Amino acid sequence: MRTSTVAIALIAPVVQAGLRFGCSSLTIQRLDPVVEPGNKPSAHLHHIIGGNAFNATMEGDVGERGTCTTCEMSQDFSNYWTAVLYFKHPTNGSYHRVPVTNNAALATGTTGGMTIYYTPHDFQTDDIKASPITAFKPGFRMTVGSPTTSSLADANKHIGLRYNCLTTLINRGAEMADFPTKPCAAGIFTVHHFPRCWDGVNLDSPDHQSHMYNTIKHDGFVNSDPCPASHPVRMPQLTYETVWDTTKFNNLWKSGDPQPFVWSFEGSSGYGTHADYMFGWKGDSLQKAMNQSNCFYDGCGSITKQQMSVANKCTVKDQVGENIDGWVSALPGRSA
Ligand SMILES: *[C@@H]1O[C@H](CO)[C@@H](O)[C@H](O)[C@H]1NC(C)=O
Ligand SMILES: *[C@@H]1O[C@H](CO)[C@@H](O)[C@H](O)[C@H]1NC(C)=O
Ligand SMILES: *[C@@H]1O[C@H](CO)[C@@H](O)[C@H](O)[C@H]1NC(C)=O
Repeated sequence: MRTSTVAIALIAPVVQAGLRFGCSSLTIQRLDPVVEPGNKPSAHLHHIIGGNAFNATMEGDVGERGTCTTCEMSQDFSNYWTAVLYFKHPTNGSYHRVPVTNNAALATGTTGGMTIYYTPHDFQTDDIKASPITAFKPGFRMTVGSPTTSSLADANKHIGLRYNCLTTLINRGAEMADFPTKPCAAGIFTVHHFPRCWDGVNLDSPDHQSHMYNTIKHDGFVNSDPCPASHPVRMPQLTYETVWDTTKFNNLWKSGDPQPFVWSFEGSSGYGTHADYMFGWKGDSLQKAMNQSNCFYDGCGSITKQQMSVANKCTVKDQVGENIDGWVSALPGRSA
């Protein structure tokens, strides 16, 4: 949850702009309909939330096909996914999946999952008169970050991809480009801010990124530069937050050991953190919300919310059927 400073959180009410909501976990499996459509399994494991149209291949209007969603916003059948965090045992080299826990202050009953933001301008204002927001279109998809990023210099080109070492579920500490170097009392928090400027034409691109342009310079929740002529269409700033419950591994991480966490694609650092998005809002529901001033976390006048007990009933089939839990000798899809 965005709590930039405790002071701001306490001096209510600040106008806050945009949608923020939770979605429970939908499935954890090796599928990637954006980067590896049709592959069952894909190269590495993903944690996926959102609508039940999720599939190895996804074309056309996902919002029309979805019949349930793990998101609180009941018109949102989009899918959101990231790699999965594993703990690598410091002495015997076995891996254990790190469970996802829900962010603080989400709707009661949110299970695992992520916090999703669609921010029009920045965290405090919407400014939609001066700078209207165009919602994503059916078929739209994008990724941010790359599993092949392996240096700090390259990680710093993606300023919106960061880690925090949680001391409590609401106390995040500083943002870092890499995994924390010491055990975190309440888990590891990851954030993925997507670029907000669209070329206005392509729903996707060969690298799944060049149809978008990133204008974030400091912090993804702070307003960024105007969109350039090459990518003139301003879209919502999409952000994912995930809380990885690393606490049960803290006693296995002895002082002086190297940091033991590894993404499911097995990078040597945290720099390869990345995320994928498949748009799937029903009809014009996202555009309607983005046209609305002064709304935050309330449905923006037109979006309906569902109880998380209902959202949690939404499931998809495990199409890969491999063992991802318990101590495993290799990451799913990787050789030992
Ligand atoms: C997933 O794709 C397969 C093959 O195209 C199709 O048979 C199946 O109905 C799809 N499932 C969903 C939930 O869309
Ligand atoms: C590694 O250690 C864990 C925790 O003690 C244990 O459960 C697991 O079986 C071990 N793996 C191997 C290959 O010995
Ligand atoms: C959103 O606002 C634009 C600009 O005012 C308008 O053209 C469009 O019809 C609105 N869309 C919806 C779904 O309300």
